[in-house]
Amino acid sequence: MSTMTDYDEASRTYDSVRRAPDAHLLKSLMENFTGKSLEDMEIIDIGCGTGNYSKYFLQFQPKSLSLMDASVGMLNNAKAKLPPACRAQIAFKQAVLPEIPFKDNSFDAGMINHVLHHVEVNPDGKSFPGFVQTLKEVHRILKPGGVLTIIADTPENIDGHWFTSLVPETTKRLQKRLPTHKQIKRMLEECGFSLKSTYKPLMASYLPNYDNIEGPLHESWRGVNSFWSLCTESEIQNMIRNVTQMKNEGTLQAYYEKHDRIYSVGAYEIFAAKKI
Ligand SMILES: C[S@@+](CC[C@H](N)C(=O)[O-])C[C@H]1O[C@@H](n2cnc3c(N)ncnc32)[C@H](O)[C@@H]1O
Repeated sequence: MSTMTDYDEASRTYDSVRRAPDAHLLKSLMENFTGKSLEDMEIIDIGCGTGNYSKYFLQFQPKSLSLMDASVGMLNNAKAKLPPACRAQIAFKQAVLPEIPFKDNSFDAGMINHVLHHVEVNPDGKSFPGFVQTLKEVHRILKPGGVLTIIADTPENIDGHWFTSLVPETTKRLQKRLPTHKQIKRMLEECGFSLKSTYKPLMASYLPNYDNIEGPLHESWRGVNSFWSLCTESEIQNMIRNVTQMKNEGTLQAYYEKHDRIYSVGAYEIFAAKKI
């Protein structure tokens, strides 16, 4: 279960903007580092959500595709989305990380996209026991030489999202849930992986309305990014007052341009690691 967002509720609107950006990159990383093509692989999508990444992978007809998520609402959307003709190769499992209830050495590749910031129960920004336990579980279920890809935010890239500076207390709270690039590398190594590759996409393609400068004023815009679920009501009200004032004074666009740094720090980071 997410420790910050009600995903059964979020599942109602999630697909209104979220797709599967960089899915093609995950496929290449898995193929390059396993030396297999996707049709010869058993794949797991951990924290699959509504199955957007799995849908992309399914067109290449992997040997099998397993989807797991804590939220029944998200899983139900994923089930409805994936074509019945392919169901034979697909398994769905409801489970809460760090537990991954599959057998040892079962998968050639696994992906965890936009999930790991949800797993810490008492985030303190120093140790990340939920993250580490999850990596250990992934290591257990991957075959030797298997590849894990992770899409994750880091404290560095969160600062580059223009809107996070509107609610600095919320941003600090989120950053406590996020290991840095260095910490992720170290945890991967401690859990028996060798880090092979990292990327930083320099566009916010996972949030198509990212540059809507009046977006923060609208609940529907905030609702598709779990960042906002960490705000207190008074932080939201403060932010709305400030954004409305900048809008009325004609300074909101300049604020956006000053604080948007995704083009240099990245929208998020993609890691590819191999089980040693
Ligand atoms: C932002 S969504 C990402 C969904 C999908 N991976 C994607 O990129 O479209 C985060 C997902 O992680 C799931 N999740 C959060 N905490 C979890 C946990 N402890 N165990 C399993 N799934 C979890 C949520 O239910 C949600 O579906």
